[in-house]
Amino acid sequence: MNVLLLGSGGREHALAWKMSASPLLTKLYASPGNPGIGRVGELVKLDVADHSAVASFCQEKKIDLVVVGPEGPLVAGIADDLRAWGIRVFGPSKAAARLEGSKGFTKDLCARFNIPTAAYGRFGDLASAKAYVEKTGAPIVIKADGLAAGKGVTVAMTLGEAVAALEACFDGSFGAAGAEVVVEEYLTGEEASFFCLCDGATALPFGTAQDHKRVGDGDTGPNTGGMGAYSPAPVMTPEMTERTMREIIEPTMRGMANIGAPFAGVLFAGLMITDQGPKLIEYNTRFGDPECQVLMMRLKDDLLVLLNAAVDGQLAHMSIRWSDAAALTVVMAARGYPGTPEKGSVIRGLDKAEGEGVQVFHAGTAINGGALVANGGRVLNVTALGKTVSEAQAKAYAAVDRIDWPQGFCRRDIGWQAVAREKAGT
Ligand code: AMP
Ligand code: GLY
Repeated sequence: MNVLLLGSGGREHALAWKMSASPLLTKLYASPGNPGIGRVGELVKLDVADHSAVASFCQEKKIDLVVVGPEGPLVAGIADDLRAWGIRVFGPSKAAARLEGSKGFTKDLCARFNIPTAAYGRFGDLASAKAYVEKTGAPIVIKADGLAAGKGVTVAMTLGEAVAALEACFDGSFGAAGAEVVVEEYLTGEEASFFCLCDGATALPFGTAQDHKRVGDGDTGPNTGGMGAYSPAPVMTPEMTERTMREIIEPTMRGMANIGAPFAGVLFAGLMITDQGPKLIEYNTRFGDPECQVLMMRLKDDLLVLLNAAVDGQLAHMSIRWSDAAALTVVMAARGYPGTPEKGSVIRGLDKAEGEGVQVFHAGTAINGGALVANGGRVLNVTALGKTVSEAQAKAYAAVDRIDWPQGFCRRDIGWQAVAREKAGT
């Protein structure tokens, strides 16, 4: 089959790498892609916001499947528009992508279908939001309703921070995304990312991971898109997975079908494992980045077979096999990230870093004058498999140390919770 992959990050490189191993693949195109993806496919320049232009390209190149990496095009309705042209797409409709595109939509769905999540209120103006926050007290969580590139959430430990976050939202700091606000109860527990492949009716568990959102060691400093991840998440025991499916995922699938927006694609549940069990923090409607990188390392099955089954409504007949190994990825970022990253510094030695069970995925790279250079905040995802998380961690950092890129940095403690657990033998 001919496949068009949309996106340019490490998530998309991992998907491209895995799809390129499929005997079903004839030719992979990626737009815009990145130099790593360019090793396994042809990079093409398409205006992803112009859905008719994407559709014309698909017709011309006889594309059998479009795989959408990031949330932006999904929330903008690219899957619906391509399907209207008769093109097969892996990814949810615009109506189903509201699970990521509107936090208020998801909270209302949870309330209506009894899905465990933090107590909340939805507000369209500062005065009523402030009154609610003052009545409830801190700690409390303030969220811009719409897509805000991961920056729209403030976990406010004091009332002052909460009010400042509300003011930022209603002052337009997040544009239209902040015109409405969700205010949420502060949950405590251990976080985990839980993925399902969905075909509108069936949700099939598709692995677990834990990521590290803060930029600094010991989970300190500002939030980022994710500085590293590992899979599986030890907190997601078979019992916790079963409860999550029964209490959260399955009611969501039924609820979405019930409101006429059946969900197909990747459902990524951000969970808080509380004393009372799993609670939904948020949904994303695509793979996590960098969580996807660790999932692809562990997936034994043919990704294209699974994506086709999701598109064709055949997931009820499928099962998924995973490697018993742990996978861990370390994000190497350009100096300045998550503020303004320095661009253009030369990266060398990737060939020395890769080897048996070690893959370096490109996340923000470019070719300049024949040299590989940094071209974004998160630049490389150095990813390794090991019998344990500790072993995967050691292999990933050994690979990091073989990369010659003085202007890059990474956290040195990715996987620390799991490594501590392994050391304690629990
Ligand atoms: P999000 O951008 O929605 O993934 O949220 C970013 C982070 O904020 C999450 O990964 C959690 O660590 C934290 N967070 C979000 N909602 C809550 C909540 N209700 N209680 C505690 N922490 C939260
Ligand atoms: N790593 C978190 C995300 O992809 O949203």
